[in-house]
Amino acid sequence: MDDGWWPKPYKIKVVEPIRLPSRAEREKLLAEAGYNVFNLRSSDVYIDLLTDSGTGAMSQAQWAALMEGDEAYAGSRSFELFREAVQEITGYPYVLPTHQGRGAERVFFAVTVKPGDIVPNNSHFDTTRANLLALGARPVDLPIPEAFDPESDHPFKGNMDVEALRALLRREGERVPFVMLTLTNNTLAGQPVSLANVRAVAEVAHAHGIPLILDAARHAENAFFIGEREPGYADHTPAAIARAVFSLADGCLVSAKKDGLGNIGGFLALRDPDLYERCAEKLILWEGFPTYGGLAGRDLAALAVGLREALDPLYLRDRVGQVRWLAEELRRIGVPVYWPPGGHAVYVDAARLLPHIPRDQFPGQVLVCALYLEGGVRAVEVGSGMLGEAARMELVRLALPRRVYTEEHLRHVVHTFARVLEGRERLRGLRLVAGSGPLRHFRARFAPA
Ligand code: F0G
Repeated sequence: MDDGWWPKPYKIKVVEPIRLPSRAEREKLLAEAGYNVFNLRSSDVYIDLLTDSGTGAMSQAQWAALMEGDEAYAGSRSFELFREAVQEITGYPYVLPTHQGRGAERVFFAVTVKPGDIVPNNSHFDTTRANLLALGARPVDLPIPEAFDPESDHPFKGNMDVEALRALLRREGERVPFVMLTLTNNTLAGQPVSLANVRAVAEVAHAHGIPLILDAARHAENAFFIGEREPGYADHTPAAIARAVFSLADGCLVSAKKDGLGNIGGFLALRDPDLYERCAEKLILWEGFPTYGGLAGRDLAALAVGLREALDPLYLRDRVGQVRWLAEELRRIGVPVYWPPGGHAVYVDAARLLPHIPRDQFPGQVLVCALYLEGGVRAVEVGSGMLGEAARMELVRLALPRRVYTEEHLRHVVHTFARVLEGRERLRGLRLVAGSGPLRHFRARFAPA
């Protein structure tokens, strides 16, 4: 609506109890967790904004579909429904389900990547980066420079730097098996990629005979932003926009735990039948037979419904609107928020919020700990802790699970931030005492510096 208010397109049928542990408990639990909130039990967390992955609430239509899951090992009806949904949304004929997004990455990369290869992306997510490194390939991030300015109001800060891609392919094109684009760009503040940028990237890649593969975990949210911000698309449905985006690329790797509105699942979808055959072989080895790929039939049935629901314009307005509401409230009380807010999460600039904490003492992780200590809120660091030397910003991500929290819950988050702001001078840095490698953040332990 014009005044920024919108009617919520669902109400709540099932509730899950949550509890805020006492301050003394939170202090003890945090120390026991080695100041890494991945080590906390979810029952000790009040508002869980660790991730939007697999944490959404399913609709009654999804729960109903679950009951009709066909658990056949081969030729499951649920797989057919799932494949139809993916074909309809992406336009790609060849569909392989996987247990989640990284399963699709592993299968696809094993078939296409060899040691010494280079894979450009607007920014790799941590698992795509780690999966490529594990094969001896080099992941390269080519975001536009505006992405590193948390104040710039560029509408598509998830875009790839097309000139940088052109230069890379001119220099080392033979070593690039495919180009990737991540929609929306999760490691760079959940920023969207414009249709024009997808088109330009596809043209450059295709001119070198190189395919374009989308990491499309949040393709529906990306489509919403295109409709909202890209001239000429205001009257297009998110489904039509998503289809236009997919039509420019050659395939996609998808974690269906985000815009599939599933608690588990993923897939790869391709145009090329030969590539599909080679991927299907690896799939059988690592994930399962091509008509279930590591998922129960009931999961596939629920995903077939969820993938379509995620493209509903009213759902998307509510979803992106909720993220924006939280970002605006936080900004109003003086929290340095990355602007504009992304589709699935609010990103806070911890380096600016805690300028007295040097980068090698993990200001993002310090903020994450302070949010748990003050309000039982669990967020995640996306900075030096997660990305190591590759980190260009010290961000903290507040990812909103889909259809889970109400404005009252989010008010608690705003209130928690207000308390953190009051006591911020007293916060002290952390040092890493255990954890190494590109996925160290999941299992790292810290201690007060
Ligand atoms: N690609 C992107 C852009 C992601 O955000 C994720 C997961 C994956 C791939 C891997 O998918 O988890 O199903 O294996 N992101 C989650 C997050 C974990 O918290 O952002 P997965």
